[in-house]
Amino acid sequence: MRRPIIAANWKMYKTIDETKQFIQNFLPKVSNIYDREIVLCVPFTSLYIASEMLKSSNVKLGAQNMYFEDKGAFTGEISPLMLKDIGCSYVILGHSERRKYFYETDSIVNKKVLVALKYGLTPIVCIGETLEEREQNKTFNVLETQLKMSLSNLSSLDAEKIVIAYEPVWAIGTGKNATPQQAQEAQSFIREKYAELYGSVVAEKVRILYGGSIKPENFKQIMEQKDVDGGLVGGASLEVESFYKIVTCDKK
Ligand code: 13P
Repeated sequence: MRRPIIAANWKMYKTIDETKQFIQNFLPKVSNIYDREIVLCVPFTSLYIASEMLKSSNVKLGAQNMYFEDKGAFTGEISPLMLKDIGCSYVILGHSERRKYFYETDSIVNKKVLVALKYGLTPIVCIGETLEEREQNKTFNVLETQLKMSLSNLSSLDAEKIVIAYEPVWAIGTGKNATPQQAQEAQSFIREKYAELYGSVVAEKVRILYGGSIKPENFKQIMEQKDVDGGLVGGASLEVESFYKIVTCDKK
């Protein structure tokens, strides 16, 4: 049995005070939930306060990006060592917004994945096709290339530890989520490729999340799919009530 993960990606939202308020209201609501991992990936400026507040809770902390060196003259960057130091367990890598606006390539993502693992951070590696690629029937090719290149030189042991997030670009922030069938089709393909690369035992263990316009109303059906092991939630994770409903969507 794969333990599901429901992760919030707050992107560039929330001040320190807003972070405090969210966590104060959110933690008591989820304090009894242990059958799934709950992760908050907050902006860098909120990591410290979030880390202090989440200590000894069942909610884990994640960052949304990092650089691939552990230290050095890299103005404006944050290293895996720093993320570990501040209490992160997870880091989102290769999000499509980073690929699009900050020109991150699969080979940069690959360097980040390897170094995150070296420091004991669990990477949540994002892959997904654009609308144009889907319409040209290139979805599987794109997923396979992104997967293989982002995970190059990864040992089977490490391949088991990482988390993949299937985030179709056309579903992100658009209100147009993938249907449960579309999510399942893409995610079973990803698991198949994983089996080819790392063997079926690893492929059965790796957790594959869905991301893209998840809402309390649509997530239950997506979560019911065989190869969906959780969600990476953007907009709907910014409000306590809606994120709580998503976290508990199949418990009602
Ligand atoms: P939305 O849930 O706002 O569509 O964002 C998805 C996402 O990019 C999560 O990483």
